[in-house]
Order: sequence, then structure tokens, then C-alpha cells
Amino acid sequence: MKKYKVAAGLFLLVIVAAIGAVAVPNPLGAQILAEARYRGYLPYTPDEAVTLAYGRCTTCHPAEKMLKYCSRCGPPFIVVAHSMKKYTELMNQKGGNFKPFSDAEVVAITQAWNGLVGNWEPDWGSNDIHKLLQGDQALIRLAETPIADRPIEMALKNKQAPGSHKENREIIP
Ligand code: HEC
Repeated sequence: MKKYKVAAGLFLLVIVAAIGAVAVPNPLGAQILAEARYRGYLPYTPDEAVTLAYGRCTTCHPAEKMLKYCSRCGPPFIVVAHSMKKYTELMNQKGGNFKPFSDAEVVAITQAWNGLVGNWEPDWGSNDIHKLLQGDQALIRLAETPIADRPIEMALKNKQAPGSHKENREIIP
């Protein structure tokens, strides 16, 4: 499985390199790059993650939901992102027509909201977080990644989303 993913990733990289070689920014190239990121073959940059977070998380409710979310409001964003992914799947099963969240997307989006609004994972026991993630391997892996090793979150650590009251717990050693 992993080998297949690596092979597919390499294949896409070759395509991406070929597009780069032509050096024409074209819509098809952008679409292939977006798809490669969606599937986790290419990383999202911090800017892309922020755009993605605002774009993908505002199809059902305004950004206020994220901006006003806080440590007293509920579990950390990593759990919220998982719940929203699940909720989207449920709505699709009931006839909804939402683009499903990919693993790569929720991992990038979680880091974006953590960076821009705050991360209070340290307030929660890791056992609780694991339980609430309900076997979501991509997010469990992120939960186990020290915050200092999360590239998007680290890149955004000194930023703040307008309209939010950023609250970060002692996350950086
Ligand atoms: C398919 C629709 C849908 C999408 C997409 C969606 N949400 Fe939600 N979200 C909801 C619903 C429904 C609620 C709960 C009802 C409400 O408060 O409006 C909610 C509530 C929330 C809350 C408030 C939770 C609380 O306890 O107060 C937050 C924070 C949130 N969403 C974040 C996100 C994030 C982050 C994303 C992107 C990963 C996202 N949402 C994408 C439907 C969605």
C-alpha cells in the first residue's frame, strides 16, 4: 500500500516536473498540482493551507465558527476537523454533494486553524484525543507529531486570524 503510494507519488512528480519544464502556468497544471496535494503526494504550503482552511470549512457555516472557537468551547481543532470530515461524509451518505475531505487536507487545515486561532491540545490528555479521533490515522499521526515538527503550524505560529482571539497553550518547548 505504502509502496504503491510512493510509486504513484513519483509518477505524479514526474508529471509535475514535466509541467514545470514547459513552464507555462496553465489551468490543467494547477489542477494536477491541486490534485497531487489533495492526495498527499505534494505538501501544502502554509499559504495554501490557509486558503484551503477558509475555503473548505466555510461551505456550511461562516468562518466565524472557527474564529470564535476557543478552549472553553470544546475539544481542540484536531478533533473538530475530524468531526467535520465525518459529518461531511454523513451528509453525503444522506444525499449531500460535498467534496469529501482528504487526509492531506484535514492535516493541513488542522495546522492552519491551530496556527491562526490556537492550539489547546496540551490541555487534553492524549488518550482523550486518540479516543475522539476514532481511528482517523492521518490525524492520529498528526496528534503524535510534536508541534515543533508540524511545518504549517510552525510557519503560522506568529500569525493570527483577523477576528480571532488567539490562544496558544505552552506548545513550544
Ligand atoms: C458539511 C457541512 C460542514 C462542513 C464542510 C464543515 N462544518 Fe463545521 N459545523 C457544521 C455543523 C452542522 C456544525 C454544528 C452546527 C452549528 O453550530 O452550526 C458545525 C460546527 C462547527 C464548529 C463549532 C463547534 C462547536 O462545538 O461550537 C466549528 C469550530 C467548526 N464547525 C469547524 C469546522 C472546520 C474547521 C471545518 C473544516 C475542516 C468545518 N467546520 C467544515 C457543518 C460543517
